Amino acid sequence: MARITFLLPDGTRQVLDSGDDPTVMHVAVRANLPFLPADCGGQLACASCMVEVPEAWRGRVGDPGLDEGDMIEDALGTRPAGRRLSCQIAVTEALDGLEVVLLDRQG
Ligand code: FES
Repeated sequence: MARITFLLPDGTRQVLDSGDDPTVMHVAVRANLPFLPADCGGQLACASCMVEVPEAWRGRVGDPGLDEGDMIEDALGTRPAGRRLSCQIAVTEALDGLEVVLLDRQG
């Protein structure tokens, strides 16, 4: 289990325990957080679960996988550093304390 802080576009923070949720996306969806519709339910088919990982966490979270990177590029036309699809970030104890930034518009 990990505690994850979601930074919302309006400047507020939501601190959530992951419980048994397998990914960062699942944690956010269970709490009905805005700005993260996760339309495909984690099937790597929508990019609507995109988040920004602050620089301090990028090493531990890691880079996007090949297909994930392609999805990000398809959505944005580029691959900005720190962008990840939250359904592809598995929750592990190593991510306890993680902060991720929710984006006010996808794409
Ligand atoms: S929920 Fe659709 S790609 Fe992550």
